[in-house]
Amino acid sequence: MRIVNHPILTFPKQDMVTFTLNGQTIEGVAGEPIAAALHAADVKVLRHSHGRHRPRGLFCAIGNCSSCLMTVDKIPNVRVCIEPLRAGMVVETQEGKGKIV
Ligand code: FES
Repeated sequence: MRIVNHPILTFPKQDMVTFTLNGQTIEGVAGEPIAAALHAADVKVLRHSHGRHRPRGLFCAIGNCSSCLMTVDKIPNVRVCIEPLRAGMVVETQEGKGKIV
């Protein structure tokens, strides 16, 4: 689910890396936001709200809200919309865990 051909824009060749989401191996572009890699893999729900457990995905996409908080490499409450993707990252959903910081 990536745009690879465009009539005006060109996209330089980029290094692909793998990471895991809840144990599932996913491929993404090194350095892109984790959330972008997840969207490209058709993962749109990043967490669920406290209380009513409503699905949350990208909202601001600039690190100013709490819609994309996930656990990355055992660190909770990482805003994956602004966290660069690196090879071997372990990304997990964090249903009901941790305080928002
Ligand atoms: S979508 Fe708002 S902080 Fe990531």
